[in-house]
Amino acid sequence: MAAKWLKDTVFYEIYPQSFKDSNGDGIGDINGITQKLDYIKGLGCNALWINPCYDSPFKDAGYDVRDYKKVAPRYGTNEDLFNLFDEAHKKGIRVLLDLVPGHTSEEHPWFLESKKVSHNEYSDRFIWTDFCFKGANGLPYVGGESDRSGCYILNFFKCQPALNYGFYRVTEPWQKSYLDPAAIATRDAIKDIMRFWLSHGCDGFRVDMASSLVKNDDEKKTGTSAVWKDVRRMLDTEFPNAAMIAEWSNPPLALRAGYDMDFCLNEHGGGYSTLMRDYYNHGGSIHGDVNAEDHSYFKKDAGGNINRFLDQYLSWYEDTKDKGYISLITCNHDTIRPSYNLTVDEMKLAYAFIFTLPGVPFLYYGDEIGMKYLDVPTKEGGYFRTGSRTPMQWDGSANLGFSEGKESDLYLPVDSSPEAPTVEAQESDPDSLLNTVRSLLKMRHTEEDLQADADLRFICTDADKPLVYKRGSLLCVLNPTGSKLETPLPADIAGSLHGEVLLKIGEVSTDNEKVCADAQSFAVIR
Ligand code: NOJ
Repeated sequence: MAAKWLKDTVFYEIYPQSFKDSNGDGIGDINGITQKLDYIKGLGCNALWINPCYDSPFKDAGYDVRDYKKVAPRYGTNEDLFNLFDEAHKKGIRVLLDLVPGHTSEEHPWFLESKKVSHNEYSDRFIWTDFCFKGANGLPYVGGESDRSGCYILNFFKCQPALNYGFYRVTEPWQKSYLDPAAIATRDAIKDIMRFWLSHGCDGFRVDMASSLVKNDDEKKTGTSAVWKDVRRMLDTEFPNAAMIAEWSNPPLALRAGYDMDFCLNEHGGGYSTLMRDYYNHGGSIHGDVNAEDHSYFKKDAGGNINRFLDQYLSWYEDTKDKGYISLITCNHDTIRPSYNLTVDEMKLAYAFIFTLPGVPFLYYGDEIGMKYLDVPTKEGGYFRTGSRTPMQWDGSANLGFSEGKESDLYLPVDSSPEAPTVEAQESDPDSLLNTVRSLLKMRHTEEDLQADADLRFICTDADKPLVYKRGSLLCVLNPTGSKLETPLPADIAGSLHGEVLLKIGEVSTDNEKVCADAQSFAVIR
């Protein structure tokens, strides 16, 4: 069901503001991305997800779209983006744009029309109550901002009015059904935007807040799923190779609604966050004592347990493996970078795990060199997220090679520490995080058994033993602790091993009965 090309795909997420400035104005741009395609390819990534690059007042870093069909002038032109599609395709790289279907900017022309007293084509493009003093029955709303007598519903920040996909359960006179012509018109408008970019060479979309389009939905998200199934039908007919990944974090629902992939995010609810950023689970402020309750699995000797992750992951995986893919991330533009609480050795093991599981993994720019989460003031609605959005660190030149512009013009400051990691510094060190990522991804592309579809079976998940899992016919062994660990191997597995080690971090050895893994080690064995 998922697009075939995803089987051997690893994504690279680019926050366009901060990746590469090609014209010296201090802000990253589309042509900067095009210049760096060889770097991305060399890393082993063969697809991009670019955060919103459309015209916007940037009150939420571009997730407040003012014109869905126009590249923001600060990033370049539509032609630059079409050129990026072409150049990427020549190198075998696919490009997903970020689709923001749940809301627009408050400056979007649709919203400006919708605010008017006179009835027009856009009056019901957003969700309005029917009186200036009437609230929205539990949904966030704004009143007193329009001549129209009504309050409008918000989808996220105040600058982001919710587009109207209707309500699954209608309980108020001002609510429209999700099958109402006005709700269908919003769907059609989003399909029109998708067609626009797809017909110019875009390969699909990462979809923002994909689960919350239809309001008052049921637990199974029947209303919102109906929207995505409709979109999927359009794609199947008109753009059969296009792929969509949901920001939903519920693969059983998202993949059934027609998505190819869904992110495993659940920052606040156990699961994925227990691997690398468990401190989020404890409601702890990022400026507080983060290690106080950090039991991240990959943090050496922090008392982590892989089963906290597997309990949820495996039930999702079993339920969805014939439907599409789960996507694990190193981090993203909304989360704290892994280097915040993990050392380089810990990150190597975390990435080894992420890049050897099924599904389609995502690497956030800069995580391949362990860029730091910086303590910087909020920018464009980033708040705590801003620290993970600073300029890419390319080399030792001015502005760490991000921009030839003036330091004072930079979108955000570059890491000023003398130890700031750079691509250049890590190139020549075979043991660097960068080269470890390259080796891991190279292996993934060479071995079909490590790609999206191949079987996964956990052999040993005991806390006092190495983690052992099989991908197809390959055996993966991982020990994130500070002590040497060993475990016996079931006879059928031991008997089928050739013993060839495809990749090793630290020391792992097998005889035909057991596997021994040194402190902080990983290996893939044929
Ligand atoms: C999720 C995006 O990842 C985040 O950056 C944004 O602020 C919200 N959705 C609102 O669009």
